[in-house]
Amino acid sequence: MKNEVIVVLDFGGQYNQLIARRIREAGVYCEVHPYDMPLEKLKALAPKGLIFTGGPNSIYAADAAICDKAIFEMGVPILGICYGAQLIAHMLGGVVAKAKTSEYGRTAISLNANSKLFESLNGETICWMSHTDAVKEVPAGFNITAESVDCPIAAFENAASKVYAVQFHPEVAHTENGEMMLNNFARVVCGCAGDWQMADFAKEQIEAIRAKVGAGKALLALSGGVDSSVAAMILSKAIGKGLTCVFVDHGLLRKNEGDEVEAIFADKNKLDLNFIRVDASKRFYAKLAGVTDPEAKRKIIGEEFIRVFEEEAKKIGAVDFFVQGTIYPDIIESGLNKSAVIKSHHNVGGLPDYVDFKEIIEPLRLLFKDEVRKVGIELGLDSKLVNRQPFPGPGLGIRIIGEVTAEKIRIVQDADAIYREEIAFAGLDEQIGQYFAALTNMKSVGVMGDSRTYDYAVVLRAVETSDFMTAKSVKIPWEVLEKVTTRIVNEVGGVNRVLYDLTGKPPATIELE
Ligand code: XMP
Repeated sequence: MKNEVIVVLDFGGQYNQLIARRIREAGVYCEVHPYDMPLEKLKALAPKGLIFTGGPNSIYAADAAICDKAIFEMGVPILGICYGAQLIAHMLGGVVAKAKTSEYGRTAISLNANSKLFESLNGETICWMSHTDAVKEVPAGFNITAESVDCPIAAFENAASKVYAVQFHPEVAHTENGEMMLNNFARVVCGCAGDWQMADFAKEQIEAIRAKVGAGKALLALSGGVDSSVAAMILSKAIGKGLTCVFVDHGLLRKNEGDEVEAIFADKNKLDLNFIRVDASKRFYAKLAGVTDPEAKRKIIGEEFIRVFEEEAKKIGAVDFFVQGTIYPDIIESGLNKSAVIKSHHNVGGLPDYVDFKEIIEPLRLLFKDEVRKVGIELGLDSKLVNRQPFPGPGLGIRIIGEVTAEKIRIVQDADAIYREEIAFAGLDEQIGQYFAALTNMKSVGVMGDSRTYDYAVVLRAVETSDFMTAKSVKIPWEVLEKVTTRIVNEVGGVNRVLYDLTGKPPATIELE
């Protein structure tokens, strides 16, 4: 891999991959590493620039994350963000203290346009602040380059030694010119050419995987969704027939989905893959019987998946590598980057402790969903497949609140099929990020014909989102919702009420469990 690289050193902030993503959007390859990675390893990456992220602690905390001071002697440009800015001040002889007023949210700042970081920007801008400590005095040799009413040192720099620091978060969308600032850091300060593209990412992954797996064998967990399909393309280009894609039909798929996935991946005219479909529904249903807790359901499904893959691997023989299409939001929401666990995404946090493969390969683990789609297009995947709306690994298991039963699966499959049909009929399917029907665990009283009913309520969900980390509910035309409601109640036995979920993420999540 011989691209220019900028390294983000992770001090525990929430938005670290977002920083990496913005740098990649500026056309520069970017990786996130722990702040205490060995200096030799960091040097070996030959970074053109370093970014210190935010973090949850005060630099005066007993367990504060402090990096190796020798990093400042590498002669590589540095940008510190929030905690990273305070750390720079602290380590180079400035003063950090509790701010008079904590700043959270949108804040107006004035910029010194002579700073290379703020090139092409002028005067006032809006940024996103989130801090209780602040820099009180900059180190010797540094100038203040931005201020807000409550934060007189909102940015500072030593242009000669190429060390820059901002108290706010340029990586979040709420910082109006944040993209330009990160672009300026990458291109103007670090002097990167900015010619890296997603196609390079795929190329590098293919080469790295080829070097690692060689003539060995890998088994890929294929769901037919975007992530695992893109992972399958990368692996197939890397190791050809050394790869076997295993599609586990756990009986929790959408209506007709198993056949649709098989039709795409077993079609030798289109894709030359070793493809195996395993009907494992009975064993999944048996394990899920009586289980109501969402996390328990996720873990059971995750574990059962792995056991099926292990069995298939034994049948193939000598399979050392297990491949999954994990993407970054799966990792962050499963709490594997030390943030709080939201839910155990089945392909990461849902993995059992013991997995009978020598190594797990996750070629997409640094990417967001829309970046994965770009890679898919680069690799020539059909755009229908690439733009398929996501479907979670645990499937309908997490779209049925409470115990999973055959009756509930039938209800949710039929209701969802009607919803999808009507959304497509209204021409809305390509405009909505993700939409589906789910089943509440609520029964209520209704009247159909002249009789009383006591049946389930189906909930419809539709969200727009770019990265699936946050989402907004979609304003589906009332007539469409009415038609879907009427059809579901009339056509799906066991349902007498249909609800529409207006909640965004946060505070809700996209899936119900
Ligand atoms: P949530 O519900 O966490 O969903 O807001 C965010 C996105 O991730 C999908 N999702 C999953 N995908 N395995 C997956 O492969 C999982 O366990 C899983 N859980 C949620 C969800 O459909 C949405 O697109």
